[in-house]
Amino acid sequence: MTELRREDFGDDFTWGVAHAAYQVEGAWDADDKGPSIWDTFTHGGGRVFDKTNGDVATDFYHRYPEDLALVRAMGFDAQRFSISWPRVLPDGVGRVSTKGLDFYSRVVDTCLELGIEPWVTLYHWDLPEALHRRGGWANRDSVEWFGELADAVVGRLGDRVTRWMVFNEPGTFLPFGYLLGGHAPGVRSLRRFQAAVHHVGLAQGRGAAAIRAAAPGASVGTTHIFTPPDVAGDRPRHRRAARAFDAAMNRVYVEPSLGLGYPMDDAPLLRGIERYVRGSDEADLVVDWDFLGVQYYQRFAVAAAPVPGLRFVPLFRKDHKRFDITAMGWEVDPTGLSDVLRTVHGYGKVPELFVTENGAAYPDHLVDGRVHDVRRTAYYRDHLAEVARARREGVPVHGYFCWSYCDNFEWAAGLRPRFGLVHVDYETQRRTVKDSGYWFSRLLGGTVTPG
Ligand code: FCB
Repeated sequence: MTELRREDFGDDFTWGVAHAAYQVEGAWDADDKGPSIWDTFTHGGGRVFDKTNGDVATDFYHRYPEDLALVRAMGFDAQRFSISWPRVLPDGVGRVSTKGLDFYSRVVDTCLELGIEPWVTLYHWDLPEALHRRGGWANRDSVEWFGELADAVVGRLGDRVTRWMVFNEPGTFLPFGYLLGGHAPGVRSLRRFQAAVHHVGLAQGRGAAAIRAAAPGASVGTTHIFTPPDVAGDRPRHRRAARAFDAAMNRVYVEPSLGLGYPMDDAPLLRGIERYVRGSDEADLVVDWDFLGVQYYQRFAVAAAPVPGLRFVPLFRKDHKRFDITAMGWEVDPTGLSDVLRTVHGYGKVPELFVTENGAAYPDHLVDGRVHDVRRTAYYRDHLAEVARARREGVPVHGYFCWSYCDNFEWAAGLRPRFGLVHVDYETQRRTVKDSGYWFSRLLGGTVTPG
């Protein structure tokens, strides 16, 4: 394949890295910060694969100047980060912590001084524990609670931040947090899941309105994970299964805000959600997005389930001959990225798309100050080639954010999976640029070189 060039993506293309508060900040109880559901979940024991937690993580709370300087030196011009709700509102609502807001204000200023555009996500999964005790997203009051957070954050940062994302991947934190229980807050209930789906949809509208009100010139979006199905066979029942998978995994979370309603016919998972829908809700779910953030990690092969009542089974092919498989067990198929970009563009509802996350964990080895992460570099090269292809076809994709700048706390999988372009030694907090980081630095005209 021919070498990728920055020019192939045009001058107005945003090159960024992404992270989430809980995964990097550490300082879990510093200053005024209240506990989040992830603090409770990780301290509860046994629920994180390697029994680690985000108490310290990569200590971004204290090391952000060093980290942002390295992001810039690697040639990136944007940093996507999220706000820890309980750092800003320790009890979830009411008292606003000036110290919490000051921290994010300093991060924004540091970005701007370095020539990095700050891209802010209002919610990347760390709900205040105090609000979980009141039912969390399953309580309809969460719409107003979230409104308070949005007002406080945009009120303080909206004079400098022009790119906002309301949520990160409702399609992950809702099913894993409220239905399957593998993520915080560890709830397993179909009813509470359905209630939470609806309230997060309404909160999304409330959050977007808060941004428009406090930062009128800003560009407002949100992010979704897309996991496209491959049909595992040519029988109609397999095609129906793939359709059901697509509805349950992707469309449920994306379509209501685009004015398309819930995909009730294809997603039996939602049967009963009507009980949470009131008056003007359907209209309130709709948002006039400036952009959507597309996040892609893997496809699934999907087959018809042999069990009556179940519509599909995702197949874990683990076909090492056809696919590279990451340390998360995810199959690497770059063509899925251009597919999802086409699909989202196909809705015809959103003017701009950005890949707000894409990346891979591999078992890295730090030897003599180097990490030769050849597979990660290939991963990025091949996915970026698909982005370039989508652009050539006319899909308006205007930027790409790597997940992630540095290794960090990977939720229920703990500290073990390493997703970074920069290696972190968790004992010493020492950062070491991996070969994939040097690759980006070369591509983007950065100044970081191996030596
Ligand atoms: C995404 C999450 C992100 C990170 C990556 C690997 O689903 O948004 O926080 O964990 O996966």
